Amino acid sequence: MSFNQIYKARQFDLSGLTGISDETLEMHFKLYEGYVKETNNLTERISKFLQDGKVDQEEMPAYSELTRRLGFEYNGMVLHEYYFENMKRQGAGDPAPASAFRRAAEASFGSYETWKADFVGIGKMRGVGWAICYQNPSNGRLSNHWITLHETGNVSGFAPVLVMDVWEHAFLLDYKPAERPKYIEAFFSNIDWDVCDGRLTATSNAQAS
Ligand SMILES: [Fe+2]
Repeated sequence: MSFNQIYKARQFDLSGLTGISDETLEMHFKLYEGYVKETNNLTERISKFLQDGKVDQEEMPAYSELTRRLGFEYNGMVLHEYYFENMKRQGAGDPAPASAFRRAAEASFGSYETWKADFVGIGKMRGVGWAICYQNPSNGRLSNHWITLHETGNVSGFAPVLVMDVWEHAFLLDYKPAERPKYIEAFFSNIDWDVCDGRLTATSNAQAS
């Protein structure tokens, strides 16, 4: 199998979102495709170091650099897929009262509003990265996290439930750099809460904090 075919860019039909232009999405899909391509490329280049069954000492600097970049590219690919997947045209804004997500947020934060205040607060943090709501599969608990770049801050083994890109490229064609709150508001109006409910795996075990 060709290394360039290990991962293929997925297609997302998202035109007509509220407050996030088709122009932004087209640019963003291209960026995402770059992460897919680079994940495949790095995997192939690293495999060449391994062809003789070992990593020679003189190969170590190049091998190390490529391997460090692999974490960035891999997470860049996967997080964009979660992000695009958890949006749809004419989203509902906030999750339905009886939805699995709302119940999990209430069990973990006391109320959905408190969960949202935390998630939106993280989205407004200065820096380059993501706001992600994860579920701990061992107890169903939700927690929100700031991810720097694509790879720093992800909690190992936790399942992403809601993923929001807050790199400036996600909104700069539609809003000014200081208008990130407006983009976050637009993002919420496009959330596909059914997808988020489907990502929850252990809500029945969720414990109030
Ligand atoms: Fe992005």
